[in-house]
Amino acid sequence: MTAAAEVVASSLVVDVSHVTLRFGGVVSLDDVSLQQHGGEILSVIGPNGAGKTSLFNCLTGVYTPQEGQITFTAADGRSHRLNGGKPHDITQLGVARTFQNIRLFNALTAFENVKIGVEAHQTTGPIGAMLRLPHTRREERDGDARTLELLDFVGLRSRANELSASLPYGGQRRLEIARALGTGPQLLLLDEPAAGTTGSEKVELGQLIRRINAEMGVSVLLIEHDMRLVMSVTDRVVVLNFGKVIAAGAPTDVQRDPAVVEAYLGAPADTDGGGGDAASR
Ligand SMILES: Nc1ncnc2c1ncn2[C@@H]1O[C@H](COP(=O)(O)OP(=O)(O)OP(=O)(O)O)[C@@H](O)[C@H]1O
Ligand SMILES: [Mg+2]
Repeated sequence: MTAAAEVVASSLVVDVSHVTLRFGGVVSLDDVSLQQHGGEILSVIGPNGAGKTSLFNCLTGVYTPQEGQITFTAADGRSHRLNGGKPHDITQLGVARTFQNIRLFNALTAFENVKIGVEAHQTTGPIGAMLRLPHTRREERDGDARTLELLDFVGLRSRANELSASLPYGGQRRLEIARALGTGPQLLLLDEPAAGTTGSEKVELGQLIRRINAEMGVSVLLIEHDMRLVMSVTDRVVVLNFGKVIAAGAPTDVQRDPAVVEAYLGAPADTDGGGGDAASR
C-alpha cells in the first residue's frame, strides 16, 4: 500500500468519499459517497450498468478512481487508503470478494479452490515451503483444517473432493464465498451471488450471508438484483443509477422511493402507489 496506516477511532469499515471513475467519455462512478458501519450488511442495488461492479473494482484495487478516497478500517483499528492499492495488498488487509461471473479453478476440487484462499492468508513464503520447516508443516495442517471447516460452513464438506465444475451452480457460488472467507476478511464483497441460482438456493444463500455476518462477525457489502434476498438480509441499501447514488436508507423506504422506482421503470413513479414495487425484480 502506498499510504501509511493511521490509527483512527472509526465505527466505519468502509468510507467511500466523492469517488469518480471514468473510462474515456463513460463515467462509471460519478462523485459516489457511501459509508458502511462495522458489522453491517449493506446492499448496493441499481439497474444494469449503474456502476455497482465498478464500485467493487475500485474497492479491491482493480481500478483506481480518478477522484475521491476510499478508506478501509481494519480489525486492528488502523485505517488504510484502498484507492491506488494493489488487489493482493487489499486482500491482506481484510477485504475479500466474489465475482459476478464465477471465477473458480474448474480443474481443481472444491477443497483445492478453498485452500487457495486459505493459503493467501498464511505467512509461509516459497523458501519456507521448499524447506518444509516445522512452522510450514503446522501451517499446512491448520490450512487443511480451516479449509474443511469453511467447506462445512457453506454446506459443501461432503463434496470436498469433487471438481468445482461438477457442482451445481448454487454450490459453485457458495464455494466461491468459502474461498473468499479463507482469506480471513473483515469485509466481504459479494457481486450478485444469487445470479443464476434456483429459488431454494437463494433461500440458502440468504441464510449463509446472515451466518457469515452473525457468526464470523464479517461485514458484508452485497450487490444483488434479487430484491427478496436484498430485503431479507440487508440492514441498509444504497441505490446507484448512471454512476450516481440516488437513494440510501432502510430497504423498505428505498424500495418505495420515487427516484428508485423511476430508475427501474424509466418513468416517473405512479402517484397511486401502483409503481411502488418496481424495484422488486
Ligand atoms: N473496463 C471498462 N472499460 C470501459 N467501460 C467500463 C469498464 N468497466 C465498466 N465500464 C462501464 O461502466 C459502467 C458501469 O458498469 P458496471 O459493470 O459497474 O455496472 P453494474 O452496475 O455492475 O451493471 P450490471 O448490473 O449489469 O452488472 C457501464 O457503462 C460499463 O460499460
Ligand atoms: Mg455488475
